[in-house]
Amino acid sequence: MRGRKFLAVVQERYHALRAHGGIPPAVRMWRNPAAMEPRRPILVKKKGAGARHLFACAKDAAHETPMQSAVHAIVQEGKRAVVCTLANQKGGMTKTTSTVNIATMLTLLGCRVLVVDCAPEAHTTFTFGYSPGDTRSTLFDVLEGTTPLKNVILPTYCNPQTHAFFDPHERLNEVDRTSMTLLEKLGADVINGPDLVPLNNLASSSDIALRRKMMWATLLKNTLEPARRVYDYIVIDTNPSLGVWTVNALCAADYVVIPMVPEQLAVLGIADLLASIREAQAEANRGLKIAGVLFTKVKNLLAHRDIMVPLREQLSGELHINCFQTEIKENTAFLNAANKRSVVVIDEPLGDHAMAYWQLLAELLAVIGGPGKVTITGTVRGLEAERQRIAEEKKVRRESVQKERSASL
Ligand SMILES: Nc1ncnc2c1ncn2[C@@H]1O[C@H](COP(=O)(O)OP(=O)(O)O)[C@@H](O)[C@H]1O
Ligand SMILES: [Mg+2]
Repeated sequence: MRGRKFLAVVQERYHALRAHGGIPPAVRMWRNPAAMEPRRPILVKKKGAGARHLFACAKDAAHETPMQSAVHAIVQEGKRAVVCTLANQKGGMTKTTSTVNIATMLTLLGCRVLVVDCAPEAHTTFTFGYSPGDTRSTLFDVLEGTTPLKNVILPTYCNPQTHAFFDPHERLNEVDRTSMTLLEKLGADVINGPDLVPLNNLASSSDIALRRKMMWATLLKNTLEPARRVYDYIVIDTNPSLGVWTVNALCAADYVVIPMVPEQLAVLGIADLLASIREAQAEANRGLKIAGVLFTKVKNLLAHRDIMVPLREQLSGELHINCFQTEIKENTAFLNAANKRSVVVIDEPLGDHAMAYWQLLAELLAVIGGPGKVTITGTVRGLEAERQRIAEEKKVRRESVQKERSASL
């Protein structure tokens, strides 16, 4: 009897596999340890014998978003993703920059990550390679109830040469519909990004439409419930307001991160944000916790220190709100990366600013947990060692050039 039951399960899985066009890569790896042999997607040194890559990723570049695979859903039964929202009702506080970097780092750690764009200006959607105007269905359609979540999730891909995320439908020759896509050309060299729930600016007038619904504040929370079973982390970007989108993102989250530039105007708004968080806790999401305040765009100015030092004391002392030790400095590297649809942790993977985001992630994972916590320390240590090795190589080269020069004098 037991044997027959087992056979029925195997047959059922087999038919599910057939229906989904074969074994998805994730399951293939799970079954075949040989396929676990990693590929290393980010190139550090381009030329010569010393060319090196960072990060170990699955060998298979082809990617099927797990919610679209019934088989994967079976394998992942019992899982519960950690949901983290980045919120601050003031614009320019680096919500989007922090979201895209955190989601990319978690993906590079080997976690299954879903990014949800809850900001109708759709900068996250744009950064991850999709033109918001071209996305057929978005999160708005899902919250409206016209399409299920799994139909709008998009895989994201980054070009290892340009460091730019791109649309997988993008062709090498836009005029010739039969030409290869960039994804086909890159093949296994592509860098896999997190999965994305896109939004577009058509949703900017959506406040009224969504508010008409009963229980509008928990639409996203309910929508993400099935995704929690297949992803390790869900990271949500929000818009600069305390309207429908941000309230939904707060009600759906386990943790909120508050990125903040240490300026007087930003400090003034924090009381309103904390009030919204408390409201979300009281009305719909008792489990919501503040993971921490992240100081960003920090300048080496006395004016910034004068605001940051007492604010840190007040937040962690009186209000018991964690402030991350890591500060993200102001630098054009972030703007340069954003301009080319990239993220600093890929664009300058061993630079100071990427390292600051990795340090932040280590602090964040210590608070929010999840599978990334296991690999983060080793990864940061590995990156630091690589930086040191490159610095030493440079020093040796500089010294030998100096020796040659003084010998020729
Ligand atoms: N650390 C930084 N230093 C300088 N510019 C930054 C930094 N982080 C982000 N930026 C830039 O600041 C602008 C606003 O950041 P963004 O992440 O879009 O903020 P928000 O989503 O909160 O509105 C963007 O142009 C971004 O490239
Ligand atoms: Mg933004």
